Amino acid sequence: MAFPLTRLRRLRRTGALRGLVRETQLDAGDFVLPLFVTHGSDVRAPIDAMPGVARLSIDHAVAEAGEAAALGIPAVMLFGIPDHKDEEGSGAWDDEGVVQLAIRAIKDAHPDLLVIPDLCLCEYTSHGHCGVVRSDGYVDNDASLELLARTAVSQARAGADVIAPSDMMDGRVGALRAALDEAGFAEIPILAYSAKFASAYYGPFREAADSTPAFGDRRSYQLDPANGDEAMREVAADVEEGADMLMVKPALPYLDVIRRVKETHNLPLVAYNVSGEYAMVKAAAAAGYIDERATVLETLTAFRRAGADVVITYHAKDAARWLQEST
Ligand code: PBG
Ligand code: ZN
Repeated sequence: MAFPLTRLRRLRRTGALRGLVRETQLDAGDFVLPLFVTHGSDVRAPIDAMPGVARLSIDHAVAEAGEAAALGIPAVMLFGIPDHKDEEGSGAWDDEGVVQLAIRAIKDAHPDLLVIPDLCLCEYTSHGHCGVVRSDGYVDNDASLELLARTAVSQARAGADVIAPSDMMDGRVGALRAALDEAGFAEIPILAYSAKFASAYYGPFREAADSTPAFGDRRSYQLDPANGDEAMREVAADVEEGADMLMVKPALPYLDVIRRVKETHNLPLVAYNVSGEYAMVKAAAAAGYIDERATVLETLTAFRRAGADVVITYHAKDAARWLQEST
């Protein structure tokens, strides 16, 4: 018999063969598009570090949500840019707040599109932290839970399809579940940002959401990038407290964590392809250093191969279009 016996290249010889044995499929039906919503009308304020992404007034956000739906993207995630901030972040649970108004407007216009507001206080607090800051500067865990619970109920009342806490306080999933159940929202699922790392890749987002902490950083609540085992403990706690879906964030530098979570927990797993990951691809593509389309599709495929069922990505509309073209 001729050497070598095993010729793995046999199944790579033609496009049809490669397609037949392809293990991972990319589908717009697994994407979530994040949107930044702001007050006013006819506002479309570009975000420097995120070419192609803008802060949108609600009218534009409704239109953008409609475009996403038309491309087969089933969900949008909302981040609010409020017109005022205070110590407690009271704008977060204002029933007439920018996110609550946006949820209602998008659900009215596109009832079948899922609307998932991000749940946190950092866009609404004057100090930019994700919870209540004590006089010694430490973020008070249990006092923050109370405010997050109010916010979750307000978002649910506005028509949110899923509640998605990104604050990283201990016990938040349990606290939110109890508050939602008590307010009559036992049917609303919780997508927990379970393994959220204290990452430099959030830089462009903080510019977009104007949520950079005024002092200190988020390392007393978000995970140390060095810790995979601890990430698994965070995820286990959220599962125990009743999370319906889990998230790993950022995505590209944490593919190992995505894989570990998928192998340990039998729940839908979401990867958040964050602002800095997006910015790097856009910058390199603009400089002519990489092919944007190929890079994005390869990256999104990698999240799915690592174990993510769903991908939250600012590339969602482009990727959905590219997938349509290639079939
Ligand atoms: C707020 C929040 C952040 C992101 C999502 N929700 C930023 C942060 O924790 O500082 C980051 C999203 C992105 O970078 O695309 N808790
Ligand atoms: Zn936050």
